[in-house]
Amino acid sequence: MVWLLLPMIAVAGVMMVEGFYAARNAADTAYDRLLMASVLAISERVVVERGELVVDLPYVALDMLSSAAQDRVFYRVVGPNETVVTGYADLPELPDDVDLLAGEPVFFNAVYKDTDVRVAALNRAFVFSDRTEYYRVEVAQTKGERVLLMQEILLRAATRAGILILLAGVITWFGVAKGLAPLTRLQEAVARRSPAELRPIQHDVPQEVAALVRAINTLMARLETNIESVQRFISDAAHQLRTPLATIRGQAELALDQQDSDEVAETLAALAKSTKRTSRLADQLLSLSRISRSEAGRDTHSGVNLTKLASDVTREFVPNGLKPDQEISFEGDEVIKVHGDALLLEELLSNLLENAAQYCPPEAMIDVSVRANGAGTAILDIRDDGPGIAPEERQNVFERFYRVAGSGEQGCGLGLAIVKEIATQHGGHVTVGDGADGTGTTVRVKLPLVL
Ligand SMILES: Nc1ncnc2c1ncn2[C@@H]1O[C@H](COP(=O)(O)OP(=O)(O)OP(=O)(O)O)[C@@H](O)[C@H]1O
Ligand SMILES: [Mg+2]
Repeated sequence: MVWLLLPMIAVAGVMMVEGFYAARNAADTAYDRLLMASVLAISERVVVERGELVVDLPYVALDMLSSAAQDRVFYRVVGPNETVVTGYADLPELPDDVDLLAGEPVFFNAVYKDTDVRVAALNRAFVFSDRTEYYRVEVAQTKGERVLLMQEILLRAATRAGILILLAGVITWFGVAKGLAPLTRLQEAVARRSPAELRPIQHDVPQEVAALVRAINTLMARLETNIESVQRFISDAAHQLRTPLATIRGQAELALDQQDSDEVAETLAALAKSTKRTSRLADQLLSLSRISRSEAGRDTHSGVNLTKLASDVTREFVPNGLKPDQEISFEGDEVIKVHGDALLLEELLSNLLENAAQYCPPEAMIDVSVRANGAGTAILDIRDDGPGIAPEERQNVFERFYRVAGSGEQGCGLGLAIVKEIATQHGGHVTVGDGADGTGTTVRVKLPLVL
């Protein structure tokens, strides 16, 4: 409304200014004609009698000028040598820029007796003892009537503009309200929805809003998949927790029933192992939920030296992580910088090292290497010569809770899912391939370099 009405009012203002000049013109044209008629009428009655100019003033000529607004009229007739023949001797002089030619009336504005007046003047020639002489007739009229006419014209114009603006306002108000009614209905329908209701919005909306509704529908569809996957994850997690917890409970009850202290110790050892597995599961679950919330990789300012990070994590892993006689080697280019979160990258690497050590037999060889390829990518390889992962399993192992059957009882199937999540968040990706000489496993993580 404001954007419509303010410009309209501005335009109306401009039109009123134009209207003022037009009205003044119209009033002048109309009343100048009367003034001229009066001047002509007087000039017709100027005669030369015995060498003198004599005026037989026709009073009607002045009467027609002093009308309703009580305009006052003044006149004078000026003979040769500026001698005033009759009338008001002190009428204002002709302005300098007015050129009075014989027979042509002129009009000008002046002030007389402290009042604005309009003056008409006419020069006429007469012949007196073979000489051509001139006399001048001037009639001045106060401007009351003209001002009244002008005011009337302006007032009408202003009234018209006012009514127009008012009408436009009312029409716009109703028009916009009617046009937006579907939006109000849409708003009510959306407000009535329960938070779980993520069906697409199907409402008749104006064309201009249809694109917005489509975008909202797409967002809701994505939200629904997202919520579904979160719910699936929660129920999977609960399910995964149930089995080890049931085992723990069984073992605890068994220990309570057992008399023989050796047997009790054996059961407690098994119970400790189950507890360790469960807390590993809890840790991995926590990692996953932390990663999905983190903003890793989006911070493009800080770079992490992947070579140093990988060599540190590998060195720390050696004392406790390896099985007997397993060996580990590290090889890396000097400085390889990637965007990202150092803690998450450490977690990625420890998961991969744990897997290599866990699924390879003793005396296995594990190689960690970090290098950069020419295409702005850092490549982190963890290679072992263990049992390997069958090609048909290489996609599945990245799924949450997925474990390759018969690979040993430890583990909850989240390690590679965590690795994949971290890699994706850093703008990279991870693949599983053959190890060296076609045996074992290579897990390759590619991350964008800081350029
Ligand atoms: N280096 C490897 N060599 C052989 N098999 C592997 C290797 N790494 C992973 N796997 C296989 O991939 C499966 C998934 O590994 P992942 O790390 O995701 O789960 P996990 O080790 O079972 O559990 P978690 O790591 O969460 O404790 C494992 O069950 C294992 O069979
Ligand atoms: Mg693992």
